[in-house]
Parts: sequence; structure tokens; C-alpha cells
Amino acid sequence: MHRFIMTTMTLCVLILASALAWAAVEAPADLKLGPPEGMKASKTLVDFSHDKHGEAKVECATCHHTWNGTSEVKSCSYAGCHDQPGKKGETAFYVAFHAKKSEASCLGCHKILKKSGNKVVPVSCKACHPK
Ligand code: HEC
Ligand code: HEC
Ligand code: HEC
Repeated sequence: MHRFIMTTMTLCVLILASALAWAAVEAPADLKLGPPEGMKASKTLVDFSHDKHGEAKVECATCHHTWNGTSEVKSCSYAGCHDQPGKKGETAFYVAFHAKKSEASCLGCHKILKKSGNKVVPVSCKACHPK
């Protein structure tokens, strides 16, 4: 009897652990970022490393600012998010990556860090969009 209970408990723990592992969202490996379908690129594609930002302790939700930790992670250009051409307004694709005062944008966060003395973060157009 005792053994039966132990086995049942072990099974429960195993099932729970695999359910948790399945639910955890994994950040994809190195990405090359470009504009969404239907939008023409005027700049070269941008290299982005989840690993390096993770090592630098940037939280997922700082960038994925609509994510609650368990929902699906949406792309920046998801319908109704930053899916518009042009450079102005919250919904502009450009603004997602270059908004000056936002910690969620590449350039915004890098500029804040540079001001406080970080010498590694790229802030020039060419550093992110190489020729
Ligand atoms: C910290 C990195 C970073 C810096 C610095 C940066 N960008 Fe970007 N930019 C991106 C990312 C990421 C995207 C989205 C992916 C893409 O479309 O290339 C993007 C997209 C763009 C786009 C829209 C897509 C396209 O190809 O037309 C334009 C225009 C652009 N950037 C211009 C600039 C200009 C001009 C500068 C300098 C003032 C600059 N960027 C600096 C990361 C950066
Ligand atoms: C410094 C900013 C940043 C951080 C921090 C970050 N991500 Fe991302 N992540 C991105 C960008 C940019 C993309 C590409 C989005 C796109 O294609 O529009 C992306 C894409 C993703 C995708 C694919 C989404 C899709 O388009 O299908 C997932 C999943 C994801 N990230 C999960 C995570 C998780 C989990 C963490 C934390 C461990 C994390 N990210 C941390 C910027 C970040
Ligand atoms: C919330 C802050 C934050 C945001 C948003 C952010 N970064 Fe960074 N980025 C960092 C930090 C911190 C480092 C590491 C600097 C260091 O090593 O001290 C870094 C380093 C980098 C580097 C140099 C290291 C490498 O990967 O080669 C690149 C390139 C870079 N970021 C691109 C991007 C792009 C592209 C985006 C937007 C898609 C982005 N970052 C968004 C904080 C940010």
C-alpha cells in the first residue's frame, strides 16, 4: 500500500513537471530581424541575440511589453501593434525599435544605458544596420 502511494505521488510529480516544462516559453536563438511581409526594407537586416540580452539581465517583459508570462509571445508587428509603415506614432513599425524614451525599444534602451556609461551597446544606425 505504502509503495502504491509512493508510486502514485512520483507519477503526479513527473506529470506536473512535464506540464510546466511544456508551458514554459523559450526565447528563440539568434535572430535576423527585418520588416514584416508587405513592408519594404530600406536598411540592412539586424542581428539580435536573446542570449546576450538574457546574460545582461534584461527581462523578457521589458521588450515583450504586452506579454503576461504565459500567453503566446507576439511579434512586434502583430496586427494592431507596431504594424504600420512610416516613422510616426505608437503603431509605426519603426517606433518599436527606435522610440527614444522607451525602455522597450532597442535604441531607446541602448541610449539610456549609454548615458549611464555603458560602452558596449550599439547606438549608431550602422552598428545595427551594417552596410
Ligand atoms: C539598436 C539597434 C538599432 C539602431 C541603432 C538603429 N536601428 Fe533601425 N531597426 C532596428 C531593428 C531591430 C529594426 C527592425 C528590423 C528591420 O526592419 O530591420 C529596424 C528597422 C528600421 C527601419 C524600418 C525597416 C527598413 O529597413 O526600412 C528603418 C527605416 C530604420 N531601422 C532606420 C534606422 C536609422 C536611420 C537608424 C539611425 C538613426 C537606425 N535605424 C538605428 C534596430 C536599430
Ligand atoms: C531586448 C529585447 C528582448 C528581450 C529581453 C527578450 N526578447 Fe524575445 N524577442 C525580441 C525580439 C525583437 C523578437 C522578434 C520579434 C519579431 O519578430 O517581431 C523576439 C522574439 C521572441 C519570440 C518569437 C515570437 C514570434 O515572433 O513568434 C519568443 C517566443 C520570445 N522572443 C521569447 C522571449 C522570452 C521567453 C524572453 C525572456 C527569456 C525574451 N523573449 C526576451 C526581443 C526580446
Ligand atoms: C531594455 C534594454 C535593452 C533593449 C530593449 C535592447 N537592448 Fe540590446 N543590449 C542591452 C544590454 C544591457 C546589452 C549588453 C551590454 C553589455 O554587454 O554591457 C545589449 C547589447 C546589444 C548588442 C551588442 C551585443 C551583441 O548582441 O552583439 C546588440 C547588437 C544589441 N544589444 C541589439 C539590440 C537590438 C537589435 C534590440 C531591439 C530588438 C535591443 N538590443 C534591445 C539592452 C537592451
